[in-house]
Amino acid sequence: MNVPEEVLERIQKLRDEINYHNYRYYVLDSPVISDEDYDALVNELKALEEKYPETITPDSPTQRVGAPPSEKFRTVPHHVPMLSLDDAFSPEEVREFDARIKRFLGSEEDIEYTLEPKMDGLAVELVYEKGIFTLGSTRGDGFNGEDVTNNLRTIPSIPLKLLSRNEPVPELLEARGEVYMEKRAFEKLNQERKKQGLPPFANPRNAAAGSLRQLDPKVTASRPLQIFLYGVGRITGRSFNTQWELLHTFKNWGLRVNPLIKKVMGIEKAISYHQRLAELRPSLDYEIDGMVIKVNDLSLQEKLGAKAKSPRWALAYKFEAAQSITRIKDIILSVGRTGAVTPVAVMEPVKVGGVTVSRATLHNEDEIRRRDIRIGDWVIVRRAGDVIPEVVRPLKERRTGQEKPFVMPQYCPVCGSRLVRKDGEAIWRCPNPDCFPRLAKRIAHFVSKGAMDIEGLGPKVVEQLITAGIIRDIPDLYYIKKEDLLSLEGFAEKSAENLLAALENSKHTTLARFLFAIGIRHVGEVTAQVLAEHFKSLDRLMNASRQDLEAIEGIGPEVAGSIAQWFSDEKNRTLIKRLMEAGIVIEGQKQEELPLKGKSFVFTGSLSHFKREEAKKLVTALGGQVQSTVGKRTDFVVVGENPGSKLEKARKLGVKTITEEEFLELTRQD
Ligand code: IVH
Repeated sequence: MNVPEEVLERIQKLRDEINYHNYRYYVLDSPVISDEDYDALVNELKALEEKYPETITPDSPTQRVGAPPSEKFRTVPHHVPMLSLDDAFSPEEVREFDARIKRFLGSEEDIEYTLEPKMDGLAVELVYEKGIFTLGSTRGDGFNGEDVTNNLRTIPSIPLKLLSRNEPVPELLEARGEVYMEKRAFEKLNQERKKQGLPPFANPRNAAAGSLRQLDPKVTASRPLQIFLYGVGRITGRSFNTQWELLHTFKNWGLRVNPLIKKVMGIEKAISYHQRLAELRPSLDYEIDGMVIKVNDLSLQEKLGAKAKSPRWALAYKFEAAQSITRIKDIILSVGRTGAVTPVAVMEPVKVGGVTVSRATLHNEDEIRRRDIRIGDWVIVRRAGDVIPEVVRPLKERRTGQEKPFVMPQYCPVCGSRLVRKDGEAIWRCPNPDCFPRLAKRIAHFVSKGAMDIEGLGPKVVEQLITAGIIRDIPDLYYIKKEDLLSLEGFAEKSAENLLAALENSKHTTLARFLFAIGIRHVGEVTAQVLAEHFKSLDRLMNASRQDLEAIEGIGPEVAGSIAQWFSDEKNRTLIKRLMEAGIVIEGQKQEELPLKGKSFVFTGSLSHFKREEAKKLVTALGGQVQSTVGKRTDFVVVGENPGSKLEKARKLGVKTITEEEFLELTRQD
């Protein structure tokens, strides 16, 4: 059948328009027609081609899918080898690269570089003959790759025909670039695979590689792949002076180029741009693992040449690994503002993406069970987009059998209320509405100006520290580590160091400040001062009775009651003990002479006034020591009813023996 002239013309026009709109959409990222209008063009073309099949050519935009599955991929040579790149991880290494180039060229002048994101996908070569895409291959070993033309054809951002409206197309072009999968598409694909019971891909790179090496192009077509192009193999009918010009010409031909490319003079600017890309990295919808630095001038590139596997004119300046392996030491609970109680993994500190991390949220109980994360597990941790680190997965193959499954505690770690979990919710909550606010207030008061005066620790930071599970009570403040702070939003190296120094400085304090800081009801700055002046030591205040307190001028019965009650509460005594253990030193205290200070005791036989345990406690409380066996250095052996062999031993060694009554006499405090 003869195809009418106007139909041929219309078909040609439609193809050109579709190609142009692809270019607007994929390369310029600025479409000029709606999706519906675009679809209408494609549908019209499809209809005409159906009616006149003899008009169909392989470069028609309708001909992306359709090739039958292959048995295996043919091997194709790369006429110009596809080299790899030398790696660098630090500014020093990058400066060394620059210095090497200058030495090689015998010049001191700044070098101009192009900077490109280093795509984390897989390298391919696209061959265009007279502007038509005829062959596409994987990198393979750099010399020979696999012919994946039919799969590459299914990628919408690869033009089947180069655009010639901006500038003429070359006779032959071997364009090189990176095929990748967007992060979101990757997540979606993995979800679908899970639903179908298929193993998920480990990362977008593997997903892209797996998709491109499908024997059936229909499968590849169903996988959302993309491409960015960045280099050439052979080219005839066109030459470039610079890498920058090459990249721009690519765009004119409709080849997709990463929009974050940059041209700079001198290596320092390259180093700053690397920093910038590292910052942008989390917000990009594709994975990059560094920045490629290329000498811009192609004649300089030629002079520099290549080593066996990599060119001297380019360098991959990699980002530090954003994933590391460490061990979970414990799983603790943190209480949030709303009462939500979240399990947090406490890990051996490890560097992730340049920052040391030691904690990661585990979200909730079910999530821990679902992912089978246990205390003692080796895990992969990642710092995702934001600063918050997360546990990717446990390394089950490293288990020794010593790992312990997590058991959700029943009580709030802060206030002791019984935790509740509503039907259908994954989260346990502390039902006490005062829990978090009260704790936050207590700590904020402790660190405030008239109290311990810890600069850089306002109420907001206190809340952050609680929510992140870093502190659960006041003494935890003194165990904060630098990496804990760095994991919080708003903290950098310097501010973290400043806060730690402020905490350290606050350890030496006065009794008045300390008494105000611990937050006894009715004890404000003035009362704290009165108490400090009167008692001159914390121990004496702690042992004072309500009557003792009431006798002090300026302290009324209500205040006295509140103080006595506070110190009689075991929780508060523990708090004081923990603060002292954390290294708080109250200066200017009058030292109490403890009656048993430095003396050692051994008990034998049964006592009539105490249980053995009580007697031991009393000795320790009064500054003495209790030993289990008699030695030359024992000061006293307390002899009760029916003494044992210890008495004989004491006699043998000449250690003083005393009765229970004499012991009581010794413990008397005057
Ligand atoms: S240029 C001779 N530019 O990195 C120059 N490579 O280790 C060779 N890659 O196999 C490559 N983004 O897969 C170049 N903008 C970029 C790149 C890039 C990613 C990959 C590519 C190559 C590997 C080299």
